Amino acid sequence: MARSDLLKWEDKHNSRLDRSPSSSLTWLSQVLPGSLALDLACGQGRNASSLTSLGYTVIAADISRRALAWLHADVAGTTSPVFPLQCDFDEWCFAPSCFDLVVQCDFLDRSLFPFIKDSLRPAGLALIDTFSIGHEGAGRAGPSNPAYRLEPGELAEVFAGWDIIGSEENDRAAILARKPARL
Ligand SMILES: C[S@@+](CC[C@H](N)C(=O)[O-])C[C@H]1O[C@@H](n2cnc3c(N)ncnc32)[C@H](O)[C@@H]1O
Repeated sequence: MARSDLLKWEDKHNSRLDRSPSSSLTWLSQVLPGSLALDLACGQGRNASSLTSLGYTVIAADISRRALAWLHADVAGTTSPVFPLQCDFDEWCFAPSCFDLVVQCDFLDRSLFPFIKDSLRPAGLALIDTFSIGHEGAGRAGPSNPAYRLEPGELAEVFAGWDIIGSEENDRAAILARKPARL
């Protein structure tokens, strides 16, 4: 990641942000939990902490030290199975078929979709939930640059052939999709 981008993220994580989890996490209650989850670009960990209450051990990965420091403050000295990991997704560092669930919320890097799919075990779950195009503008949440927002139908296309457990297309686009048990 460019240093200017890193400084921008560090600045965003100077203060404590909203800790309520993404509403799409409720879709996970429809399915049996697996054991290991990746919260990709976890930020301050609002979703990572919720995933533990569903039974997951969570690798919470982000490039921002400040974001991870907030998360570390939540879990240090507790038995919470959340493991903060600092890494830059410009260099993918996870093995194929190692996660039961990958969650990516409020963050869009299309180049990561093949890696996310590959890092899931057969029958593993991908939960993507971020801002959609056409709903940007003054006073609206999310990036103002439409390139960082999902196109209509884009997630359905990315996960074509997977079992779709939940989906939403509004000012946000979200999907919970299960990888085929056999490819
Ligand atoms: C808008 S925040 C979303 C945080 C969290 N997923 C949530 O929903 O609250 C986006 C996060 O992506 C992280 N990020 C951006 N680019 C990254 C990269 N190349 N590698 C790792 N983390 C990155 C930033 O540090 C930031 O914490």
